[in-house]
Amino acid sequence: MRFIPALLVAIVPSIVTAFPNTPLKTSGQFIVNSSGANVTYVGVNWPGAGEVMIPEGLQYQSISSIVSKIKSLGMNVVRLTFAIEMIDDIKSGGDVTLQKAFQKGLGSNGDKVYQQVLKNNPQFTASTTRLEVYDAIAAELAKQDIYVHLDNHMSKGKWCCSTNDGNTWFGDTDFNVNNWKRGLQYMADHSKKWPNMASIGLRNELRKPDNAGKSLAYNWAVWYDQIKAAADTVNAANPNILIFLSGLDYDTKLTPIPGGEDLGSGKKFQLSNFSYKDKLVLELHNYQNSASKCSDIEGPLWDNGFSATWPTAVNKMPVVLTEFGFSNADKSYSGVYATCIRKLMPQWKTGWMVWAVGGSYYTRGGTQDYEETWGLLNHQWSDWRNKDAISALKGMVSDTLKSVK
Ligand SMILES: *[C@@H]1O[C@H](CO)[C@@H](O)[C@H](O)[C@H]1NC(C)=O
Ligand SMILES: *[C@@H]1O[C@H](CO)[C@@H](O)[C@H](O)[C@H]1NC(C)=O
Ligand SMILES: *[C@@H]1O[C@H](CO)[C@@H](O)[C@H](O)[C@H]1NC(C)=O
Repeated sequence: MRFIPALLVAIVPSIVTAFPNTPLKTSGQFIVNSSGANVTYVGVNWPGAGEVMIPEGLQYQSISSIVSKIKSLGMNVVRLTFAIEMIDDIKSGGDVTLQKAFQKGLGSNGDKVYQQVLKNNPQFTASTTRLEVYDAIAAELAKQDIYVHLDNHMSKGKWCCSTNDGNTWFGDTDFNVNNWKRGLQYMADHSKKWPNMASIGLRNELRKPDNAGKSLAYNWAVWYDQIKAAADTVNAANPNILIFLSGLDYDTKLTPIPGGEDLGSGKKFQLSNFSYKDKLVLELHNYQNSASKCSDIEGPLWDNGFSATWPTAVNKMPVVLTEFGFSNADKSYSGVYATCIRKLMPQWKTGWMVWAVGGSYYTRGGTQDYEETWGLLNHQWSDWRNKDAISALKGMVSDTLKSVK
């Protein structure tokens, strides 16, 4: 063993910068940490916006075992989704206990599942609330050097997304704009106490409602006004965190943003209109499709938003693929789609978060204990669903991280 003088040991902690190196900010197309080093998000989605409004999987595993699985892939971020309804509850009478949440979300099975959650996560008690579960997950992620990216997935707690689910667009049946901004403000403020809180997505997958009756007009001009107001609110509540802006048509299109094109009625998106312009990141979603060659995926994905990462883009910004995925129950991982995304992310030196970590949901679309065949983990969240797919995913993690060294 090498002899290390006591003095040197004592000074080491102050010269080695340690996780989390927040706040993060943008520098052109890159996200950088507080020491100015590139941080490219490589991570996974952990859904928590279903009826129970508690992150999934805790009836099968402990938080620490789930986080350790994520860590073993080399990932550095988790996209943790939440529903605005949880904050509405908090504002009107207070957050509910886990038992109440499971009873409300799962009916007569609620108590049984709640007991399983306690068994796997004995730090929780009869008085633990939903938000305290988010706190516990953030703390465990911090312990394992993983950033939190919060995502407002839905207003009402349920599976997302369809064109008739009442949560599509500003003013839709269950999409009260004031409650939405209040919820974002609350979570931006609350998460200040999480050292690894790094970023927040304002709203998942905006989309055109079937019945536009109650909603505002579906267009880019309305998008701009709403997104700008919400981003201002979040930045005022927590100026440190990155703010992710998602596009139209299920977040598959950010078309007029990179080039600063007319949004309609003469308005343009210009970074200079934001006093916190180095906090803005774009996000896109893309899912397995029938493309038979990678160029058929690459071209549209670039034109729909990744072109903001081009050095001469009018609005040069980081773009993160915050959702993509494919079945892990078959050989999709070796197909055209998965292979192409694994190539494009390092090629574009950009971040991503795969859908989804878990192999089941407490409940989804009316079916309890719903099997998620796209999940990285199996139904019981105990082991990987597909070891070959996981080994390819690990390669994607290291290729992406290497691309920004
Ligand atoms: C942030 O920057 C420091 C200093 O360059 C580096 O050591 C560290 O690994 C970076 N953190 C992350 C999460 O990339
Ligand atoms: C951006 O700022 C400029 C200069 O203040 C202003 O003229 C323009 O209307 C703003 N754009 C939008 C979309 O608000
Ligand atoms: C970030 O990565 C890019 C691409 O590899 C590189 O050109 C740039 O110098 C990196 N930035 C820093 C601060 O290391």
